[in-house]
Amino acid sequence: YDAVLVATPPMGWMTWNYFGDKINEKDIKEMADAMVSSGMLDAGYHYLMIDDGWQGGRDSKNEMIPDPVKFPSGIKALAAYVHSKGIKLGVYSDAAQLTCGGYTASLNFEEQDAKTFASWDVDYLKYDYCGAPSDSITAKARYKKMADALHNSGREIVFGICEWGDRKPWLWAKNAGGQLWRISADIRDKWKTDKPWTDQRELHTIGAGVLDIVDVNADLAPFAGPGGWNDLDMLVIGLNGRKGPSGDLGGTGCSPTEYQSQMSLWSIMNAPLIATNDLRTMDDATKRILLNKEVIAINQDPLGKQAERKVKNRDWNVFMKPLKNGDYAVAILNRNSSEKAFSIDWKELGLNGSYTINDLWLKKDIGKGKKWAGKLQSHETKLFRLKKVS
Ligand code: GLA
Repeated sequence: YDAVLVATPPMGWMTWNYFGDKINEKDIKEMADAMVSSGMLDAGYHYLMIDDGWQGGRDSKNEMIPDPVKFPSGIKALAAYVHSKGIKLGVYSDAAQLTCGGYTASLNFEEQDAKTFASWDVDYLKYDYCGAPSDSITAKARYKKMADALHNSGREIVFGICEWGDRKPWLWAKNAGGQLWRISADIRDKWKTDKPWTDQRELHTIGAGVLDIVDVNADLAPFAGPGGWNDLDMLVIGLNGRKGPSGDLGGTGCSPTEYQSQMSLWSIMNAPLIATNDLRTMDDATKRILLNKEVIAINQDPLGKQAERKVKNRDWNVFMKPLKNGDYAVAILNRNSSEKAFSIDWKELGLNGSYTINDLWLKKDIGKGKKWAGKLQSHETKLFRLKKVS
């Protein structure tokens, strides 16, 4: 059933980059309401994930309990509330004694915790790796242990592996029972680091921007597909450089063009689409980006192919992915900090013949033929759907 559960990349909303660990059941219920009223649920975002900070330790039987002040009604009641709206619920733990935020975690309690999560009707587990040994053999073993425990829990629970790409999880995470795996350090609400990096592990200290994560993921297309996805971390769209209750996680914000680029690139690269903005106060600019159904359809296309980067130079990247109905999605990214003119012959992508070009942000056909030429603003990404002219 694993492959069916995540036949396409999961979509949802997660507490972390806005709330940090300053979470509580009232805010999360409001977020569930807002998921419905904003149109997010209709657009496909149907997991609501509680990240780190919900835990309140263990009781006398070693059962994990939620923080009684933050979650006085408990997680099972919260699950019932979100389920009544057609939303699924996620929680978070870690493969060590303590989580990244220093809360109770699941090492040596895998079976018991998996059963507890199942008994609460949880649908998704994000499983972090803070405080655990650095080698990949231990990582794989610890993840497999929790994946097996989830399988034996009697409930279908999506398993998200979060070891930040440090141990190349694209090579082993699927065999360890993961259905998605983070490939990079934590995303921040920014376009790019201001320092150059060569080993992506350096991003842990400088904080990854949108473009940094694109560069980490660009060569990982062969490892993603129905049943297992490269996780590029949350969509920072709509955070707008605002500090949530958690304070500053290191982002200064992106421009509207850059947010639109994140949506384009996450979509064509088949990343899980997990928002983290305050859904209760979304402005129209944010809704326009997060709720573009034609763009989401590229991400959720049933063929399940992650785009490959076909053109790679200092200013320009072009990504392409084939779609189930024979169309192609093409994303053209201007990495330069000024507006630039660009042209491309579809032959350069290996596409012969003529195509109509549908611009998924303008929501209309903008041309027909064997090439495209035009201008892109700084950091803009055009997202096209090409249909062969017969
Ligand atoms: C790590 C993860 C983040 C978040 C925090 C919570 O940094 O990568 O996504 O879950 O832990 O403490």
